[in-house]
Amino acid sequence: MQLKIKESLIYLIFGASGDLTKRKLVPALYSLFVQDLLPDKFALLAVSRSEYSDEEFRISMKAAIREFKEIADVSGIDEFVAKIYYEPIQVSEAEAYSTLKKRLELIRKSDDISGNTIFYLSTPPSLYGVIPQHLASVGLNKRKDGWKRLIIEKPFGYDLDSALKLKDQLLKHWKEEQLYRIDHYLGKETVQNLLVTRFSNGIFEPLWNRNFIDHVEVTSAERIGVEGRGGYYESSGALRDMVQNHLLQVVALTAMESPSSLEPDAIRNEILKVFQSLRPINKEDVSKIAIRGQYLSSSIKGQNTVGYREEEGVNNESSTETFVALKFYIDNWRWGGVPFYIRTGKRLPTRVTEVVIHFKSTPHILFAQDNVAHSDNQLVIRIQPDEGILLKFGMKTPGTGFEVQTVNMNFHYSDLTTKRIPSAYERLIYDSIKGDATLFARTEEVLLAWKFLSPVLEAWKENNDIPLYGYPAGTWGPESSDSLIEGKGMTWRYPCKNLTDDGIYCEL
Ligand code: BG6
Repeated sequence: MQLKIKESLIYLIFGASGDLTKRKLVPALYSLFVQDLLPDKFALLAVSRSEYSDEEFRISMKAAIREFKEIADVSGIDEFVAKIYYEPIQVSEAEAYSTLKKRLELIRKSDDISGNTIFYLSTPPSLYGVIPQHLASVGLNKRKDGWKRLIIEKPFGYDLDSALKLKDQLLKHWKEEQLYRIDHYLGKETVQNLLVTRFSNGIFEPLWNRNFIDHVEVTSAERIGVEGRGGYYESSGALRDMVQNHLLQVVALTAMESPSSLEPDAIRNEILKVFQSLRPINKEDVSKIAIRGQYLSSSIKGQNTVGYREEEGVNNESSTETFVALKFYIDNWRWGGVPFYIRTGKRLPTRVTEVVIHFKSTPHILFAQDNVAHSDNQLVIRIQPDEGILLKFGMKTPGTGFEVQTVNMNFHYSDLTTKRIPSAYERLIYDSIKGDATLFARTEEVLLAWKFLSPVLEAWKENNDIPLYGYPAGTWGPESSDSLIEGKGMTWRYPCKNLTDDGIYCEL
């Protein structure tokens, strides 16, 4: 259960006129406020280049809270926005930080708040090194009058070299324990439920290893395209945007050993060990273990959708991938020889994120099976939508003979509660204020993730012979991605072959 936080603080958001602030951060902070979880002495200082007065900014945040509603109760909006202040500064200029420091001091005095401060970097990544350095130059990294924490959005670097450089810039003035790297997948309720499913049940653990598991599949599919973020996405692509962070974190929680306690470092140490055990990829093997694709124009439910290259901000000869499928191994005792498959893409038929544990088939095939899927028991952990767990196993088809058919045991997380489930941002913002770093990625993890994916990024960049497959929007990506999956007749799991609306989960 979440408890009210007592220690006073100022929450400072850099890049406050951007989309994230109005869509996620302010609605999440308001939700915490209206549930009486924030300290009584709390202020939000919004900072960005645009010229707003406090009052103008408050009015726009009022509208944002109503529009991007995190919680139904709107009774506290006026009281909440009265705690918001705005300071227009040029964040890249060192001189601006003495102004900022003075403003913080004024708010502290007027609202009787301690020196505890969270600095949230919701800015373009090019400022992730600059802002912390400027904050330090005026002593705003010092913990003498209260703690100081830095929250950094992804992407943490563009590749291994830039991530290493950023790490050096940050750690020059800040301590690792002051850094909170947001990976919003870790804030998702059902991602955390992976830990509970695995470590609170005696039935799964004995089976959770190479002896019983054939392979593990993680899929994160999106129906949407790049949605006006073409400029950002062009320099990112699916591997950097989704795999380097979200999907590898999900893999780590699926594959990690049980922590000795729920202490943040106990959990994060186990996560780190998974990253350390990822088998390095050889650049020469990239064409065999990775498939990339890019969505093409198509007609979805009678509506024409543009291809990736026609999106705003995208080069019309772009080679950026909007789909990636990857096969890899985790070299440790638990997972030796078990293939892991990751797949993610935009403009696929549905929005779904799931982990599928495929168990080994029986050692002897007793019953006639015309379909290998009959012998493939699957545990499907659905992260979104319709969060839940599905077990697929064989049953006798009623009637004469011994025909086997696959049946589903399906648990829906929504059956547990009618209460609203806090969003990932709400959970992570609360944890950051409480000082609980469990669900934030550590520097070492991030660097190891970049190191692991570097050969893929390099091979794709250097070798034009590696195909970039086009796939029509609304399909499951390049057909050749099935060829990655080992085993006769094995394919990815296709939870729905057809298009569905977002939020609707269909199960075959
Ligand atoms: C973000 C990516 O980190 O995650 C987006 O930048 C992607 O491209 C999004 O759409 C997916 O998040 P979710 O929570 O909708 O699965």
